Amino acid sequence: MNLKTSFDGMTFNNPLMPAAGPLNGDLEKLRFLVEQGCGGITTKTISIKKPKIPKPCIYGDKTFIMNSELWSELPYQTWIDEILPEYVKDKNRPLIISLGYSKEDMEFLVPKVEKFADAFEISTHYVGTDLSVIQDTVKAIRKNTDKPIYMKISPHIPNPEGFAKAIKQAGANGVVAINSLGPTMKIDIDSREIIYGNDKGFVWTSGPAIKPIALATVYKIKQAEPSLTVIGVGGIKTADDVIEFLLAGASAVQMLSSALLMGKTLYSKIIEALPKALKKYGFSSIQEVIDSNLEKHVVYKRSLPVLDEDKCIDCMLCQKICPYFAIDYPGVITFNPDKCFECGLCIAKCPTNAISFKEEG
Ligand SMILES: Cc1cc2nc3c(=O)[nH]c(=O)nc-3n(C[C@H](O)[C@H](O)[C@H](O)COP(=O)(O)O)c2cc1C
Repeated sequence: MNLKTSFDGMTFNNPLMPAAGPLNGDLEKLRFLVEQGCGGITTKTISIKKPKIPKPCIYGDKTFIMNSELWSELPYQTWIDEILPEYVKDKNRPLIISLGYSKEDMEFLVPKVEKFADAFEISTHYVGTDLSVIQDTVKAIRKNTDKPIYMKISPHIPNPEGFAKAIKQAGANGVVAINSLGPTMKIDIDSREIIYGNDKGFVWTSGPAIKPIALATVYKIKQAEPSLTVIGVGGIKTADDVIEFLLAGASAVQMLSSALLMGKTLYSKIIEALPKALKKYGFSSIQEVIDSNLEKHVVYKRSLPVLDEDKCIDCMLCQKICPYFAIDYPGVITFNPDKCFECGLCIAKCPTNAISFKEEG
């Protein structure tokens, strides 16, 4: 199965890359990600100032991670003198270097790391929401490199379509969508304390819980500016998630939090699972997914649920959750047509896929 994806002059053997964070923060980790088989490698965000990171700085829940990390704790000079020269010696896949944050930082950093990079990913996480500032940053980078520039959008930027238009005008090639969501909060009830967080008590949230926001952002950007490359990130944990992001408009994807929650070898597990997932959904390559048109399925006519009795295990979950009290059980699950609102929740939650919609004429 062909897992390759190509864009902006680069070819990736598969669409999965690490997202900027602790797992791509030094040479040992970059090499680990190569061993995992990632299609391309990104770095943690390199910046000029030393970050002051409150500890503890990573909280893990069931479906999300919270963090108060900032950017690479290693000085930029260590990246320039040690990590990047050593890493590129046996580089055999695209390297996207993440940099932050201001126009002045870019004027200083880009010339120093240009020779190591195949492309740049620029964090806009701490620069506010003024698009003219972000445009000036792109222009400053463009003066110093012809290589692809991907601007990373944070979910607190209110207008992804406007962001896409602005960065394209300024000369960027695409968007990495999205950074972590915030500000968010974690309270420790026992100690009556905010243990995780910055000096204001806030953290950033990422992982599967933010996937729907990430998907919608990828979709909005690709719809607004189809010529931009979009790299999707936010909540990926399975091969199915990768396919969803590609259908929404991404040409490649990144992941971090699910590897923090489920183990660092999740990268290779997802890559191994991709051919089977593609086959399951009738795709013959990654490119075919990227090239697919995503249809909008909007139904306004009557569409009652029906039960496949052979699949039903009488767990009664549908009845417990039905918000319209429309499911009866006179020995078999029955949908009351007078009460059923056709909301679809029972279909989404049935553990054995025993319920489906039957459209009425
Ligand atoms: C602990 C941690 C550190 C992060 N550090 C960075 C960073 O240095 N630069 C950056 O652009 N994004 C950073 N991020 C955001 C991730 O790259 C990514 O955009 C976000 O977590 C959503 O993807 P995920 O749900 O797969 O983690 C960090 C996220 C976490 C959890």
